[in-house]
Amino acid sequence: MEYLKLSNGVEMPLLGYGVFQVTPEECERCVSDALSVGYRLIDTAQAYFNEEGVGAAIAKSGIPRDEIFLVTKVWIANAGEEKAAQSIDESLRKLGTDYIDLLLIHQAYGDVFGSWRAMEKAYRDGKVRAIGVSNFQAGRFFDFAHYVDVKPMVNQLQCNALMQQQGIEPIHNQFGTKMMAWGPLGQGAEGFFSNEVLNAIAASHGKSVAQVALRWLTQRGIVAIPKSTHRERMEQNLNVFDFTLTDEEMARIATINQHDTGTINFGDPQFVKYLIETYG
Ligand code: A2P
Repeated sequence: MEYLKLSNGVEMPLLGYGVFQVTPEECERCVSDALSVGYRLIDTAQAYFNEEGVGAAIAKSGIPRDEIFLVTKVWIANAGEEKAAQSIDESLRKLGTDYIDLLLIHQAYGDVFGSWRAMEKAYRDGKVRAIGVSNFQAGRFFDFAHYVDVKPMVNQLQCNALMQQQGIEPIHNQFGTKMMAWGPLGQGAEGFFSNEVLNAIAASHGKSVAQVALRWLTQRGIVAIPKSTHRERMEQNLNVFDFTLTDEEMARIATINQHDTGTINFGDPQFVKYLIETYG
């Protein structure tokens, strides 16, 4: 496994297992499989309703807690200093741990500055080893990072070979923020696994499209958290550190970028209204 150093010196695995869209019923089995094939970073969220399954799998694995890097996220309904603080304790309880390795604000809505104060306190109190945000697009990210004391160590965004998030990288760099990619395999959408450039590069390395897509992210220094409910795919997706993409291949993949900022427009008032009315 290769690691990325966050701005506070915390080392984070470059590849992890994401449980977005893994049902609460399946979560424990999936995380147990992921841990047994070698994943040591697990990414969950309050809004995935599967933190308990993650906690149960970790407890049963027998793997020392300090060998696992656990990520969770504060949901919109828990925004604000008091509610976020309570939700952090609730996440700790559900995950069956006394610290979270990386805690993120899940969405850029509601009282995010209040949430951040609670997260900074949890960080100072040792309940959390690193703090960051998720789904903060460039302008929103800049505003937030400019005004907070502890700068976000991570921004987790929808990012993959067809949605490369190149535009936000220079802004992250101003604050020492590292990028984490959700949907690193395009969420299995049509057109991803059939992409010609990815297939040609995969064939020349004797690797799969998934492995090339994950290698491309990790080689850019972006943490990837592919999701799969199949053990053999989990294994395949972890096996990306035994080959290197050439500069020419990296440049070719840069040309297939289709939606730099991802497919969700987080600034669209209709989308914001939907999220706030449904979850806020
Ligand atoms: P499944 O869970 O049935 O294995 P993302 O990580 O971008 O959200 O993508 C997840 C999607 O990609 C899921 O539909 C998952 O299906 C599929 N997937 C994950 N790994 C692979 C792989 N190595 N080859 C093909 N499909 C994969």
